[in-house]
Amino acid sequence: MMKKIQIAIDGPAGAGKSTIAKIVAEALNFTYIDTGAMYRAVTYKGINENIQLHDAEALEKMLRTTTITLKPSEQGQLVFVDGENVSEAIRSNEVTSNVSQVAAHANIREILVAMQQQLAANGGVVMDGRDIATHVLKEAELKIFMSATVEERAHRRYLDNVRRGITSTIESLQEEIALRDKLDSEREASPLIQAEDALFLDTTNLSIDEAAQAILKLAHEKTL
Ligand code: C5P
Repeated sequence: MMKKIQIAIDGPAGAGKSTIAKIVAEALNFTYIDTGAMYRAVTYKGINENIQLHDAEALEKMLRTTTITLKPSEQGQLVFVDGENVSEAIRSNEVTSNVSQVAAHANIREILVAMQQQLAANGGVVMDGRDIATHVLKEAELKIFMSATVEERAHRRYLDNVRRGITSTIESLQEEIALRDKLDSEREASPLIQAEDALFLDTTNLSIDEAAQAILKLAHEKTL
């Protein structure tokens, strides 16, 4: 059996992180942890509770009495907020367009990062996000920074949305992705940035399977 290493995958929105991370985790019999889902869960509850999303203190107060649970399932990782299955709800346009504002709060990050580190403590994880290699799992054995052109990422999101029955246009998706990348890269608290010891993987011209195979090959090399 494969040594239970930690694999960190970071990159901008729509680079294919979650799809590819899921496949890699399954192939290695590791746990897949989607950290973006946690920031989305906080955003979702904040909106529902009518909390001003720029109010970091109010959000923290809410989060301290919130239970966020990630559960692996056949359909991928399920997300529960206080026992409610919000796996679909956290993908709405409203959550997507507000999540970067919530994720910019250092106090919110601190709480979620502690949860993420606990989830990864025993190894055997593939974790994806924005700051996994630089902050959450600094000691991860394998670090990947995954990207693709913004056009390609918008195109993938579009196809994804069609499949999920969400209405959108390529143009609006490209704008939303570019704005989210800007907010995530320019924020003060743990911005999106490639770690020095991360390997860059451009998925623009790679199929899902090719990208997954590339990471699996690297993982095997790391554990030889
Ligand atoms: O990965 P996903 O697109 O679902 O992430 C949603 C948002 O959550 C990102 O745009 C970013 O603002 C935030 N995020 C973060 N740090 C992470 C994962 C996600 O700031 N580790």
